[in-house]
Amino acid sequence: MTDWQKLESEYYMQTTVRVPVTLVRGKGVRVWDDKGKEYLDFVNGLAVNCLGHCHPVVIKTLNEQGRILVQTSNWYYTVPQIKLAQLLVENSCMDKVFVCNSGLEANEGAVKLARRYGHLHLNGAYEVITTVNSFHGRSLALTAASGQPYMHKPYVPLPGGFINVANNDIEAIKSATTEKTCAVMLESIQAEGGVNLADEDFLQKVRDWCDSKGILLILDEVQTGIGRLGALFGYQLYGVEPDIMTLAKGLGGGIPIGAVLAKERAAVFVPGDHNSTFGGNPVTSAVACAVLQYVIDNDIPGNVKKVGQYLMDKLEGLKNKYPFITDVRGRGFLVAIELNKDMAQDVLMACLEKGLLINKLKPNAVRLLPPLIAGNKEIDAAIGILDEVFSGIVA
Ligand SMILES: Cc1ncc(COP(=O)(O)O)c(C=O)c1O
Repeated sequence: MTDWQKLESEYYMQTTVRVPVTLVRGKGVRVWDDKGKEYLDFVNGLAVNCLGHCHPVVIKTLNEQGRILVQTSNWYYTVPQIKLAQLLVENSCMDKVFVCNSGLEANEGAVKLARRYGHLHLNGAYEVITTVNSFHGRSLALTAASGQPYMHKPYVPLPGGFINVANNDIEAIKSATTEKTCAVMLESIQAEGGVNLADEDFLQKVRDWCDSKGILLILDEVQTGIGRLGALFGYQLYGVEPDIMTLAKGLGGGIPIGAVLAKERAAVFVPGDHNSTFGGNPVTSAVACAVLQYVIDNDIPGNVKKVGQYLMDKLEGLKNKYPFITDVRGRGFLVAIELNKDMAQDVLMACLEKGLLINKLKPNAVRLLPPLIAGNKEIDAAIGILDEVFSGIVA
């Protein structure tokens, strides 16, 4: 039997400490490794496969569109891209869309849009205020934007124009705002940075501040969008509308796609300002369109809201049972379990052995990202495994 992990170390750049398992097949909420072992997948391509693995809607659309037209470039009009933009606009507070290939690209587009707005309307203002522990992507600019010092260190000097301030601290945002500021960029929940929830009124305070200064609010919904929090978009839970919103991950149900959405007044790109060879090609756009329509028609966010509450209740039960669980937090199907010691890797490995994939968020915290179609049955199965694993921990 081929040792894929050995071959990987020979040929692949070592950018990630991988979980020692080679996945070869997936269906619904489950995946299988190269030895035929089955796992309940609560990582889901890192919050991507919103309808689970190989959902019929994704496969059917890939097959159908793949036979008709795959790639054209944006020099031409293509129907799936236009339909996707229309569907996104009709189901959000936004007016205009640009489609790209990933979360990082969506955020690059958003920052460029905000700078363009600054050039046009704010005397050339270009700085974007972001928060400590945020994560916006891995380009050099978004490495600077992300409030994670470990990401900055290997790449200094980083591009300028980003100011990281404390999260949930409106006074810090106010103090960092100058005549150079064009936007504040936030996640409604800091996902990679620890599943840190925004305080109930924080987003509203930021909205009010941006309005008073005439600057833009960018909401990075790359991870929180498309139903993961129990609403189609995170902003709906906070009753605060951004000027620019970015999406990726769940948007394509597994295929790589991202999008920048903007209100009319912020959609200031003109021809030549921005583009992407692959962005919004017929195949990825057709799949995203079909996935989004399915999510809307079947009230998938409603399922996440209901089952997410069930998941949180079960996790609270585990927290009451095991004193070494110091916190369970999150919303919908974006949830973290924090432990009193750096034992996340041990918990992850024990879950792996018992057939459950979970994500290590921090040395002392794990994250659960069930597919949005998961029901109480899958939650019970995952909680059962976590319970067994926790019962074996000598705190
Ligand atoms: C909130 C957020 N923004 C941006 C990104 C970057 O997306 P991508 O990995 O598709 O470039 C991520 C990825 O985890 C994310 O969680």
